[in-house]
Amino acid sequence: MTRVLVTGANRTLGRAVAERLIQDPSYHPILSGRDPARVHAVFPGLDSASIEGLDFSKALPTPVLKGLVCRLKPLAAVVHCASYYGPGSLLIAPETDLESCLTFLGNTLRLVRSAAEAFGEEGGRIILMGSVAADPRTLTGRHGLYGFFKGSLREMCRHVAKEIARRQGTITYVNLGSFQAEGEAGPGDRSRLPLGEVTSLVCNLVALPPRMRVDEVDCFPLDPFREAHLADP
Ligand SMILES: NC(=O)c1ccc[n+]([C@@H]2O[C@H](COP(=O)([O-])OP(=O)(O)OC[C@H]3O[C@@H](n4cnc5c(N)ncnc54)[C@H](OP(=O)(O)O)[C@@H]3O)[C@@H](O)[C@H]2O)c1
Repeated sequence: MTRVLVTGANRTLGRAVAERLIQDPSYHPILSGRDPARVHAVFPGLDSASIEGLDFSKALPTPVLKGLVCRLKPLAAVVHCASYYGPGSLLIAPETDLESCLTFLGNTLRLVRSAAEAFGEEGGRIILMGSVAADPRTLTGRHGLYGFFKGSLREMCRHVAKEIARRQGTITYVNLGSFQAEGEAGPGDRSRLPLGEVTSLVCNLVALPPRMRVDEVDCFPLDPFREAHLADP
């Protein structure tokens, strides 16, 4: 069975990806959350060996992460949905939180490197959820600390790509726009993508052969006003 680690699995996108993978018997999803009890509450049928507690705001030294991730060998993919501040709270992210933002980033880098060491012979794929808040091509570019965090994730992908490739792996940054669960959108609301479609995109990335390199995927609703303002390539 194909082992996939999903972080931030107790809510929204992480949860939807986890639910989709659980439905497919060819996958063995390992789900992590800041509080494993909350993951358990959402997925009561899952055995406790498939649930991990990972709080990226607290220091996670390399031996801790390596120990955890290497237990999952051979790991085929990581879907990193846990995020420093959600898009909904980005406007209230206090600038003084730079330190915890950097801790989150450092832990993410250590997770990426540890996961690459846990890939099997077939290699693996690491998928980092980004945001258009960090995309200088859009009007929302660089939105406070949240934008800095996502922009740093994007740079991280570029910097570690070769390192991951040496382990037969690929790292993919998903440049995500707003999405919402079905039913939350008002009639005719085209400003957000349906959660189900974003989930499909992520699951399709998981299913791609790791040797198929996909560095970055843009995924945001087509907005004629914004498109008109995109910088020329
Ligand atoms: N929603 C959007 O419209 C949108 C748009 C662009 C990009 N994104 C990105 O897509 C990803 C998924 O978004 P979402 O809407 O599903 O997010 P969400 O509903 O806010 O869920 C975030 C997940 O991350 C976990 N988390 C938060 N802080 C954590 C920490 N310190 N350590 C470990 N886990 C932590 C949360 O766990 P707790 O329940 O414990 O807090 C939760 O499971 C995120 O990376 C987000 O930035 C989302």
